[in-house]
Amino acid sequence: MLNITADDLAQMKTGFLVIPVFEDAAFSRSPVVGSLISRAMTYPEFKGGSGEELMLYSPEEAAAERVLFLGIGKKEKADPEVFRAAAGKAMSRAIRAKQTDILFCGHGKKESVFAMMEGAVLGNHLSDLYKKERKNKPVAQIVFHVDQSKQTAYMEASGGIQTVCKGTIMARDWVSAPPNDKRPDMFARSIVKAADRENLTIVDIDERNIRKNRMYALLAVGSGSDTKPRMLVIDYRPDKYDKTVALVGKGVTFDSGGINLKPGSGLADMKQDMAGAAAVAATLITASRMGIGHRVIGVLPLVENMPSGNAYRPGDIIRTASGKTVEIGNTDAEGRMILADAISYAIKQYTPDMLIDVATLTGACKMALGPKIAGVFSWDDKLSGQLVASGRKTFERCWAMPMPDDYKDMIKSDIADIRNVGKSRWGGAIAAALFLAEFVKEVNWAHIDIAGPAFSDKANAYCPVGGTGFGVRLLIDWLQNLQ
Ligand code: BES
Ligand code: ZN
Ligand code: ZN
Repeated sequence: MLNITADDLAQMKTGFLVIPVFEDAAFSRSPVVGSLISRAMTYPEFKGGSGEELMLYSPEEAAAERVLFLGIGKKEKADPEVFRAAAGKAMSRAIRAKQTDILFCGHGKKESVFAMMEGAVLGNHLSDLYKKERKNKPVAQIVFHVDQSKQTAYMEASGGIQTVCKGTIMARDWVSAPPNDKRPDMFARSIVKAADRENLTIVDIDERNIRKNRMYALLAVGSGSDTKPRMLVIDYRPDKYDKTVALVGKGVTFDSGGINLKPGSGLADMKQDMAGAAAVAATLITASRMGIGHRVIGVLPLVENMPSGNAYRPGDIIRTASGKTVEIGNTDAEGRMILADAISYAIKQYTPDMLIDVATLTGACKMALGPKIAGVFSWDDKLSGQLVASGRKTFERCWAMPMPDDYKDMIKSDIADIRNVGKSRWGGAIAAALFLAEFVKEVNWAHIDIAGPAFSDKANAYCPVGGTGFGVRLLIDWLQNLQ
């Protein structure tokens, strides 16, 4: 729970007060904060440098049992991410100290305070759903102390921030869930349940209807699994809207590679292969809670890619919903197959003004941009520019990648319309994007390859190990700024 207060800071009783400190400038004009910081600075180990911490117990200037000072570094260099991370760190310290509430000094620039709110709510998320004993408890009350003049405005903003962070956490928990607990039918149920109380219409397309819609690519990928594929369509339709946006999310609940079985190392990590669908589902739920001003349609093909006697094979030729045939070069390039059918469906049923797909699509993209940055592919520089800008703001970073025409040769097939993998392994992320491009027709489209940032095997200041929820904050920011 995120709250705002403007009461007298010196009198406020709390177990845990957090004060950010610049190395070279005052963080707050409040005399109480000023004298607390002066006291902190008398300790030679604390200068306010980035990453420094100092804890004082029951200092006489405040009614707090603990005051945690967090070094932010030089004021010039302190971007919102520094504050997000500092707040996340404060949360983990408070959780470790078994606190039920935490009080942040929320003075300073608006962007810095909002970033701290985000870092605090995200940093309060623990990944212990599968532990018998939960050693740690999240903090029940996160309170920000602000100037009286800002109280109302910050209160309003904090509601939105909390909602977006809840969406991110929802996506994280889905991605971190083990693959035996999120096979396509279970994952679909879990999404329907989460979306239940929202202003959303959900269509659940089962195997029979997938066949009726001729989505043979989705069926082919699902044919090796005992759990049948399905497709969820989530429709957020506000009373008044101008644009219709389709969001398509890759929902491979486990990617074994299929007959082209992946090697053992890292196989367990392929539970993350539904992170695109998780991000899109959570974005729809968040969009509805926030009353976003556009119609948003989430299209989620959910499937498990497994080897079996019934699995699709390399060499197979599959007819997609668009009518185009695909020669299978590798059953592990399954994401683009299911996205092809989902994209065709989204365009045919809803004629969106824009379509964005989000997918853990290629190891090549992770290779190119590393584990923290997503690749954005679009012919529309304005659209990719908007996504890159939203990425900069939310720190869900995106980098625009090329889709050169002459690379289309990579996915040429001798006997079908197209092949699902390139003949060489170079430029694998581009080959995948060019494959998808074959199915988007005239629609204004962008593809976000989140194979890098969807999942992390290291915790950071405001995200535990596992799913990162990447895409939710990004897409919500983009939708909020879309005109
Ligand atoms: N799900 C994987 C991509 C992936 C890799 C996601 C690492 C997250 C982290 C995808 O389906 C895949 O297997 N892609 C292949 C494509 C290849 C067969 C052309 C790859 O990247 O190796
Ligand atoms: Zn694969
Ligand atoms: Zn995959």
